[in-house]
Amino acid sequence: MHPITLALAKGRTTDSTLRLLNKVGYFFEDFDENSRKLVFFDVNQEIKLLFVKAVDVPTYVEKGAADIGIVGKDNILESGADVYEMLDLHEGKCKFVVAGKNRETFALKNLTVASKYPSVAANFFQKQGINTETIKLNGSVELAPLIGMADVIVDIVETGRTLRENGLVILEELEEISTRLITNKASFATKTEQIEGFIHKLQQVLE
Ligand code: PRP
Repeated sequence: MHPITLALAKGRTTDSTLRLLNKVGYFFEDFDENSRKLVFFDVNQEIKLLFVKAVDVPTYVEKGAADIGIVGKDNILESGADVYEMLDLHEGKCKFVVAGKNRETFALKNLTVASKYPSVAANFFQKQGINTETIKLNGSVELAPLIGMADVIVDIVETGRTLRENGLVILEELEEISTRLITNKASFATKTEQIEGFIHKLQQVLE
């Protein structure tokens, strides 16, 4: 049987996901987060692991380069990828928020919003009927309101420390985020048994 190809997100959730895969019985002996290697097989050659940027995981899965992806709901929402979301791994818990210096900023008629998630941000404000200009940043978005580049940010908050240390407050909570398992639609149709078997094993460990 061909191995299932799994796109694993680099970053904060890598360790917890690998621990989960170990619990299920998948061991990647040569895996090293710090190496430049991008493809790994488990000892039984059942899983081919692609170690990719979190933001790209939904794309690998949507395009069929990976059958399965394990990645945060934040990146799934932002990508808008046409994939099946099959399982919540209850790891990497955080939430999408709107944050700013104070509530008065939020009352502005035309808001400038900085975010690593421009699509999520634009969708949220559009639903609220608020006019916004969105500035896409790739990190350290908390800086934008401090230097007057944006009125508010849309970002993920985990401990709240980054907001606190930059004098920002949560103005609105949008959505709970956690790590999810997604599958390519065609893969799920053609490798149903293999993929369902894999998900079932994960579910048993999670319970
Ligand atoms: C994320 C997020 C916040 C921070 C929230 O950034 O964009 O900045 O973590 O975590 P906290 O609530 O526990 O402080 P990340 O660490 O990924 O770095 P980045 O700003 O370079 O994207």
